[in-house]
Amino acid sequence: MAELDVFLQSFGSLSLFGALLVLLLVLFIFSSSFGSEKPRNEPPGPTPLPLIGNLLQIDMWNRHKSLQKFYKKYGSVFTIYMGPKKMVVLAGYKTVKEALVNYADEFGERHPALTVRNSKKDHGVLWSNGDSWKEMRRFSLINLRDYGMGKKACEDKIIEESFYLSEELKKFKGEPCDPSQLLTNAVSNIISSMVYGSRFDYEDPEFIALIDRMSRSIKLMATPSMQFYNVLPAIGKWFSGAQKEFQKLQVLLREYNLKVFRQLRETLNPHMCRGFVDAFFVRQQQQLKESGVIDRHYNDANLEETVKHLFGAGTETTATTLRWILLFMIKYPKIQDQIQEEISRVVGSRKLQYEDRNNLPFTNAVIHETQRLANVFPMSVPHRTSKDVTFQGYFIEKGTVVIPLLGSVLYDETEWEKPHSFHPAHFLDKDGKFVKRDAFMPFSAGRRVCLGEGLARMELFLFFTTLLQNFRLTPPPGVSEDDLDLTPQLLPPLSPQPYKLCIVPRT
Ligand code: HEM
Repeated sequence: MAELDVFLQSFGSLSLFGALLVLLLVLFIFSSSFGSEKPRNEPPGPTPLPLIGNLLQIDMWNRHKSLQKFYKKYGSVFTIYMGPKKMVVLAGYKTVKEALVNYADEFGERHPALTVRNSKKDHGVLWSNGDSWKEMRRFSLINLRDYGMGKKACEDKIIEESFYLSEELKKFKGEPCDPSQLLTNAVSNIISSMVYGSRFDYEDPEFIALIDRMSRSIKLMATPSMQFYNVLPAIGKWFSGAQKEFQKLQVLLREYNLKVFRQLRETLNPHMCRGFVDAFFVRQQQQLKESGVIDRHYNDANLEETVKHLFGAGTETTATTLRWILLFMIKYPKIQDQIQEEISRVVGSRKLQYEDRNNLPFTNAVIHETQRLANVFPMSVPHRTSKDVTFQGYFIEKGTVVIPLLGSVLYDETEWEKPHSFHPAHFLDKDGKFVKRDAFMPFSAGRRVCLGEGLARMELFLFFTTLLQNFRLTPPPGVSEDDLDLTPQLLPPLSPQPYKLCIVPRT
């Protein structure tokens, strides 16, 4: 892996690395952005050094933790410099909500990282802006809805996939196993059904490669060396192992998608779309028939990127949350008892439906509490201001990168009674009824709110409840509940440390 990551890991304090950079900055000092006049009244923050900004004060392996510390010191709107790049961080429920919802337009643009800018920043739905983003987001939402999201058809797909997942889990015969890969396969198959119109066998080598490449790309994007490259490419390019690997994976993912698109195009029946890709082709053809030209947004690059973003954003996040919830179940067996009692009492042995969540308040609360405490995306995806804005008395100029610190919302001490504990009662009233909480924001809010929220919620509910209806989960023999570590792995999406559990069929 990237030389720089290893280097940074060995020198956690960054001190040696810092010394090297401080020397280098003498050469760059006059060309850095610090020479320019700063607008008055911009949000406070730690004093930056020329060129490297606050890099020495930020733990690049644990960026959200460092930002959380700055939040305590500088308040809920503060400035940091990642290298020469100025960023404004928004923290705490009230501030994040006010910015993303009340100032939705001003804070609603995306800032594509350099790695993405190098390729197709204007395409797809995750990194794009303007009319193209609007059109792709609208088309994705409509079509994912048509091909399942939030509908009975999707529910059936997830229930069917839960069956395949259960069959695979049974093969372990109650012996200790790590369920991570199987959970990822199951979640990925839901997106695959909706996008391509079909699922894969778990053993299919193409499927395994596809998932592997996607997970690896997401991991690479979060590594310190890639982050470093994004803010200081002139230096970062010398440590470009991760960047090169990322680009290679993108090529392979592209080749695979182009192959699938070719097959789907050859077998397309415009009257019976199998999924999102077919719908995209039909839209292209219709446009061509009606006006003789393809709508400029419905081009192949937008198809490629949107499909990649739906897979990328939709798989790891949901699978990671499922990994957390199974860990919480073996860590807190009494909570598992309560859920199983509730499911047996309300649903019995019939198949679970999504609407059952309304009658399973405790189970629903546990799923919400898992998302809150797991805090899978603590820094969301970077936003950017679309115009100059005065926010909470501070001036933030157009084009500033904005980080909504979602972790500070999910752990906001003024909103949650026990912010750092697993406490499902956060989502229950005194009569045990489920209550929504405004500060529950794992999917973010506003214009760029997660496009797959409805799908993710349905998947989490149906996969989790079907598993608990059919299996008892326990730690491996010799491992006590106290031994189970809840410290997340470094780098988002924050997943639990690898663990094993026994999955025993309930009789
Ligand atoms: C537990 C599961 C999930 C979590 C926690 C999650 C969280 C998020 C977050 C925090 C964002 C950034 C929002 C912002 O910038 O303000 C996001 C964006 C996005 N998510 Fe999800 N997500 C999940 C599942 C999914 C699924 C299943 C899909 C696929 C359908 C998906 C597709 C997307 C897309 C396409 C975006 C970019 C939206 C845009 O920029 O307009 N996500 N998600």
